[in-house]
Amino acid sequence: MIDIDKILKVEEVSNSYRRRGVGFQKKDLEVLSNINFHINKREFFGLVGESGCGKSTLCKAILGLIDYEGKITIDNLDVKAVKRKNIARKVQAVFQDPMSALNPRKTIGFMLEEPLKIHKLGTKKERSKRVDEVLELIGLDSSYRQRYPSELSGGQRQRVCIGCAIILNPSLIIADEAVSALDVSVAAQILNLFQDLHDSFDMSFLFVSHNLNLVYHLCDRIAVMYQGKIVEMGDAEDIYNNPKHPYTQLLVSSIPKLDERPTVISPLADIR
Ligand SMILES: Nc1ncnc2c1ncn2[C@@H]1O[C@H](COP(=O)(O)OP(=O)(O)O)[C@@H](O)[C@H]1O
Ligand SMILES: [Mg+2]
Repeated sequence: MIDIDKILKVEEVSNSYRRRGVGFQKKDLEVLSNINFHINKREFFGLVGESGCGKSTLCKAILGLIDYEGKITIDNLDVKAVKRKNIARKVQAVFQDPMSALNPRKTIGFMLEEPLKIHKLGTKKERSKRVDEVLELIGLDSSYRQRYPSELSGGQRQRVCIGCAIILNPSLIIADEAVSALDVSVAAQILNLFQDLHDSFDMSFLFVSHNLNLVYHLCDRIAVMYQGKIVEMGDAEDIYNNPKHPYTQLLVSSIPKLDERPTVISPLADIR
């Protein structure tokens, strides 16, 4: 069924990794277990859960990088049925480590233009214009075209990764722990950039993090993942203020609240 409001549909998706072992000891490790959710057009959707719960595996399935059971559709394209290249036009990802995502031997300009070349989009002049446009969007001036990743700071490298992700104008951006390795102030700038892009363009976001506080502040809706399953899903406010599942309750209770600062005991308390 064609569904124009939903950019991503994940239906009954499961995945197992084959464990190495001998004979009866060989057992598949189920990492995703019957995952169901959708992301609406222009939605900022959060996926939260502790390390190892299967978040990145789910992202890889959505990107068409690994096999899975069930069905995933992006903009009504079945990820399993169409070529990886066509999926790449619809969904792009930004990961935790920008240095390993960038080619140290290529200039920033080359890397930004590459997706346009692969997809045979535009003339040389048009591609160059798009590269300048994207550099401006990610907050870097055109002098960065000639630079190499090693000449950039961590935050600037992550900006370049975001540039590579948006250059084809995809419908969905996956940010998988995209600010987890950055200093707090740099992370805040990158989060602002995500929000600006979301506000200015027709892009949906799947924001993946182990940090519920971050996800709550950014996202419209949240799915909470625990041991390969989505245990709770709903509006960010509801999840944060009225968590139903014990694991979500644990996540919420571990967030330090501003109004719960430790009481300062007056040095005069004993005298009064
Ligand atoms: N390529 C792989 N082969 C075998 N096991 C894997 C592989 N990738 C991840 N796993 C295991 O799958 C589980 C989920 O990993 P992952 O999806 O990376 O979780 P998260 O992103 O939430 O930290 C973990 O137990 C991890 O060890
Ligand atoms: Mg991960």
